[in-house]
Amino acid sequence: MDIVILFTLALSALTVPHVEARYDYGRDVRRALQKRQSTQPAITTGAPRINGSIPFRKEIRKLEQDHEQWTLYILALDWMQFTSQDDPYSWYRMTGIHAAPFVDYGGVHALPDGGENGYCPHVSVLFPTWHRPYLAYFEQVMYNIVQYIASLYPAGPQRIRFQQAALTFRMPYWDWAATPPYNQSVLPLSVGGDSDITADGPSGVQQIANPLFTFTFKPLDRSVFPEFPFFEWNETKRAPNPPNSPDAISNNSDVARMLDAGLRQYQTRLYNLFANSGNYSSWSNEAWIPDPTNASYDSIESLHDTIHLAAGGDSGHMAIIAYSAFDPVFFLHHANVDRIFAMWQILYNDSWVEPMMAVEPTRTMSYGASQNASTNLTPFFVNDGQFWTSDMVRDHQVFNYTYPEVASKSRSDVISAINRLYTDFSAAAMSIKHERKRYLRMEPNKRATEVFWNKGTPGGSFVNRIIKAGHYREWVANIIVNKHAMKTSFKIHVFLGSVPSDRSTWESSPDLAGSLGIFAGKMSGSDEQGRRISGTVPLTSTLVDHVYDERLQSLDSTEAEAYLRENLMIRVVISDGTVVEPSQVDGLKISIVSSNVKAAKSNTELASWGRVASHFDIYAP
Ligand SMILES: *[C@@H]1O[C@H](CO)[C@@H](O)[C@H](O)[C@H]1NC(C)=O
Ligand SMILES: *[C@@H]1O[C@H](CO)[C@@H](O)[C@H](O)[C@H]1NC(C)=O
Ligand SMILES: *[C@@H]1O[C@H](CO)[C@@H](O)[C@H](O)[C@H]1NC(C)=O
Ligand SMILES: *[C@@H]1O[C@H](CO)[C@@H](O)[C@H](O)[C@H]1NC(C)=O
Ligand SMILES: *[C@@H]1O[C@H](CO)[C@@H](O)[C@H](O)[C@H]1NC(C)=O
Ligand SMILES: *[C@@H]1O[C@H](CO)[C@@H](O)[C@H](O)[C@H]1NC(C)=O
Ligand SMILES: *[C@@H]1O[C@H](CO)[C@@H](O)[C@H](O)[C@H]1NC(C)=O
Ligand SMILES: *[C@@H]1O[C@H](CO)[C@@H](O)[C@H](O)[C@H]1NC(C)=O
Ligand SMILES: *[C@@H]1O[C@H](CO)[C@@H](O)[C@H](O)[C@H]1NC(C)=O
Repeated sequence: MDIVILFTLALSALTVPHVEARYDYGRDVRRALQKRQSTQPAITTGAPRINGSIPFRKEIRKLEQDHEQWTLYILALDWMQFTSQDDPYSWYRMTGIHAAPFVDYGGVHALPDGGENGYCPHVSVLFPTWHRPYLAYFEQVMYNIVQYIASLYPAGPQRIRFQQAALTFRMPYWDWAATPPYNQSVLPLSVGGDSDITADGPSGVQQIANPLFTFTFKPLDRSVFPEFPFFEWNETKRAPNPPNSPDAISNNSDVARMLDAGLRQYQTRLYNLFANSGNYSSWSNEAWIPDPTNASYDSIESLHDTIHLAAGGDSGHMAIIAYSAFDPVFFLHHANVDRIFAMWQILYNDSWVEPMMAVEPTRTMSYGASQNASTNLTPFFVNDGQFWTSDMVRDHQVFNYTYPEVASKSRSDVISAINRLYTDFSAAAMSIKHERKRYLRMEPNKRATEVFWNKGTPGGSFVNRIIKAGHYREWVANIIVNKHAMKTSFKIHVFLGSVPSDRSTWESSPDLAGSLGIFAGKMSGSDEQGRRISGTVPLTSTLVDHVYDERLQSLDSTEAEAYLRENLMIRVVISDGTVVEPSQVDGLKISIVSSNVKAAKSNTELASWGRVASHFDIYAP
């Protein structure tokens, strides 16, 4: 069988200090737009339709190929980031709606004891729905800036081209679960590759600070960041190195490496969330709801947390709830979460928000308040006096955007997109892959490699050891833990094999099956006990690689259970890099479960799970 290397880390020396330069329009063009903006009420509408049709939000790598829209996107980000931090349409204030700097937005006041919280609900049924108007609001502000910038090009064919492109502009999303193009990293080069970028703006081509690389505070308000070294950092950091140092610089290569190593677990978790999680209450958020079937530990919020921690690296802004939105990758990440939500809604369109008690307070909701489909999604107004609710945003098209996978609203289109994008590492689709004769495995250096086979070749017989009579056994580590166990974000690493002695190589170790990122910390009330959350680390793709390597004969129950009992190892690392004993982590419980899964037989089918069998527990308190 053939093996071809599919992607490697393509980011190179990325540690160049950030250059402070905005796009120079050659004259004061800001005032005119600011005047126009100040007369607009802060009502969330989304951007307008064009000739009745709804434009797509595009994947960032796709948007890059559209010269005009990409240029306008970069210039609009640059514009917002260089707008005064007092201005409600500045980067600082728009991203500050989420959490820090903890100030009121749009005249929507905090509860008497809510002033230290952001508006964003976590561990809540409102988690997916709240972000929908948030993104739409951001998009409409950006849309207006984009129209204005397009109008600044010199009159003639160039202005016409930019203005035409501006009309269908929508913010991009970053698909962190899709296998990147050949020889590229999961982290797009445009986001992590360079601190500078060229922009073909109205006054010609200029080199400016890349607004996707970092956001520089103008100025830094040290009081917003009580913890060292955040109050020393003038800009958002990713995988800051050296850690815990005022002089740290971002290492996007490290972030890229972590995301590439994590890709197979993002893909398989996402696939399982589509195939095996049809109840909105458990799908939408990570609150631990006791489940006697042991089948629903994962949620889109928990998967989203894991991406936050990978994108932040140890102790970057993205890894801390309250600071994450300042990092420009936040909105790219959340647009993808919203897209996944829209795809899931088409598969399970009768499952929706059911009432749940708030377990994390927000700026306007107290601990214990009822959260339901008609709860106000503050601070996003639908008109002068009322707020959007989950019921009102159930159909995302109310904000006049859509995504390629959901535009037709067809269930089979969504399923074929899932099979196309998210099954490269999955046994669930090997029978379909059998026709394509291709599967991705992780090499010891954490490069994904393509494995091809033909029926009857050794590769064919390897697949026959995984899939038997159209079924295979899926293996998962179900995890429960107290979100605030460590008073900051932390990661639970699950190794299958040995744990390297050098801590810095853990996340690229071939023996790392996956890591659950717990996104927490730096918020008031974070010492509240009992906020148990759940998530999963999928084990199947690692086991499949071990079957391929003939370290394990098959995924069958008795054999794989014995293999896991012998080889599973757990490590916990908190956000400043400190390793802690798993037994010291409040509420941690890890259970190994499996299910006999009927593999998909065609591109318009998803795998279907059987009863979940419980095998053994580790760290049961
Ligand atoms: C893949 O990336 C590496 C490192 O950036 C580069 O040296 C190599 O030429 C690339 N290969 C192809 C085929 O693009
Ligand atoms: C979105 O589209 C609807 C339906 O065409 C329209 O009523 C609404 O005004 C649009 N929103 C904006 C911001 O134009
Ligand atoms: C909208 O329709 C008009 C009339 O058909 C056409 O001239 C124009 O180019 C269309 N606009 C866009 C953005 O497609
Ligand atoms: C941060 O900004 C302040 C004020 O602009 C400046 O004095 C300080 O040197 C900057 N720190 C770093 C590490 O760049
Ligand atoms: C950045 O991270 C890469 C990959 O983990 C590592 O090889 C490199 O040494 C790091 N560079 C710096 C300057 O920390
Ligand atoms: C979804 O899960 C919640 C929480 O377990 C439960 O209360 C609710 O009845 C379930 N909904 C349906 C439709 O089964
Ligand atoms: C669920 O898992 C627990 C162990 O964590 C086990 O005791 C229980 O029997 C399992 N339930 C089922 C239905 O298998
Ligand atoms: C759910 O989908 C079915 C079949 O496509 C459709 O008939 C129904 O109207 C949808 N329901 C909702 C609430 O969108
Ligand atoms: C829904 O939540 C709101 C608060 O957000 C509360 O006032 C209302 O009573 C709740 N409704 C139900 C039916 O629980």
